[in-house]
Amino acid sequence: MVILAAGQGTRMKSSLPKVLHRVGGLALIDHVIRAAKAVSPDTVTVVTGHGNAKVRDHLGIHTNVKTALQEPQLGTAHALQQVEPLLAGKSGTLVLLSGDVPLLSPTTLTVLVDRHNATAAAATVVTASFDKPYGYGRIVRADDRISKIVEERDASPAERKIKEINAGIYAFDLAPLFDALRSIAAKNAQGEFYLTDLIAIYRRRGLSVETSPAQTADEIRGVNSRAELGEVGRLVRQKKNEELMASGVTLVDSATAYIDADVTIGPDTVIHPNVAIEGQTTIGAACEIRPNVCIQESRIGDRVTVKSFCVLDGATVADGAVVGPFAHIRPESSVGAGAKVGNFVELKKTVLGARSKANHLSYLGDATIGADVNVGAGTITCNYDGRDKHKTVIEDGAFIGSDSQLVAPVTVGAGAYVGAGSSITENVPAGALGIARARQSNVDGWALRKAAASRKKG
Ligand code: UD1
Ligand code: CA
Repeated sequence: MVILAAGQGTRMKSSLPKVLHRVGGLALIDHVIRAAKAVSPDTVTVVTGHGNAKVRDHLGIHTNVKTALQEPQLGTAHALQQVEPLLAGKSGTLVLLSGDVPLLSPTTLTVLVDRHNATAAAATVVTASFDKPYGYGRIVRADDRISKIVEERDASPAERKIKEINAGIYAFDLAPLFDALRSIAAKNAQGEFYLTDLIAIYRRRGLSVETSPAQTADEIRGVNSRAELGEVGRLVRQKKNEELMASGVTLVDSATAYIDADVTIGPDTVIHPNVAIEGQTTIGAACEIRPNVCIQESRIGDRVTVKSFCVLDGATVADGAVVGPFAHIRPESSVGAGAKVGNFVELKKTVLGARSKANHLSYLGDATIGADVNVGAGTITCNYDGRDKHKTVIEDGAFIGSDSQLVAPVTVGAGAYVGAGSSITENVPAGALGIARARQSNVDGWALRKAAASRKKG
């Protein structure tokens, strides 16, 4: 299979190549490559050109993908010509996909190939009907058979009324293809070599051209502008959300559940409104994700509650833990089974053990915290000395009094206590009380004397 992805995507008005724009957490081209691979294990060839370095770099995440360079980009026919050297001497069928049509289903591709083979056509074109076909190439039929494809800009008013459109997805018999491509001229409104002109050329030469229907019209929507990117993104989300609901996940408001294509969520988990779950995140069963939460690249166990306004990025949260509201769990942090992370608590590269609690107003960075630890309100690990980061270790069952600073590197031993308001700079042995603050002294009668003195002055 060949995917065309060399065009600039002028209408996106972007410095990012169009096929690298994302929907459902994946680049447009990734969706197309997945559809291709779902149908055929063969190597996919992507024609790149505009933003070549960025696109090739991105394609590194896929296996069995080759590239062919189109430079300069003179149109879709010219793009396809660039794969000719790779196919020298080959016969059979070439399936051509468009890098900007990401919703394409494997079924539509299978139907296309089956129909192409069954009819032994020289070319088979995937088509669909749109109520608003603006912008697409229209399928012109004579006696019910496709006779040509005309682009929006070159269409007559009558042709513009045609609702059947070209999806930009084709099967070609290799034998006549490259010779015919050479006879395409750039005589059109854009001055480009249009692949779509091939259809009329084939018909003139008496070669048979067939059409094959897309399973749904929506799946062949192309992305040419930000508005279409938004619309296709909405369709990707809708499909994902329907799959999740069918598998037993409750989405309180599926219109505001922003869940990327690769996210997995277990049954009986409830996702409240306005939640974004991104990347390769997995969430277990029977969890509750309250409104306005953002979770990226994280692993969440079963029966976890994430309360409102939390941000979890690269985090691991074990079964039964409760996070938030207003917690920030940063990369390489993990929250143990049954542990609690409360409001205005930030974890960075920190392990919080099973059943431990950090319920209020804390920064815990580069810390290893054991099981059954209580981290009092306002506790700060001072992990940074201006040059290096240092580790804090809090062993099982320790109790850190409120408003303490633990100046790393430092260890608080198992079962030890830290007195509230301490600045701990030395290790606290297991079972000890560490207290590091000025001792309180009370001056008897001080306030009464001060009041009397000010009365005298007045
Ligand atoms: C194209 C079709 C149109 C069809 C629509 C479906 C042509 C002339 N028109 O129009 O009939 O309805 O797709 O989505 O083919 N590309 C290259 N090199 C180039 C130009 C484009 O690789 O020189 C790539 C683009 O990156 C893109 C694809 O080809 O992935 C389609 O190009 P685009 O410019 O988006 O064509 P449309 O105007 O959408
Ligand atoms: Ca397009």
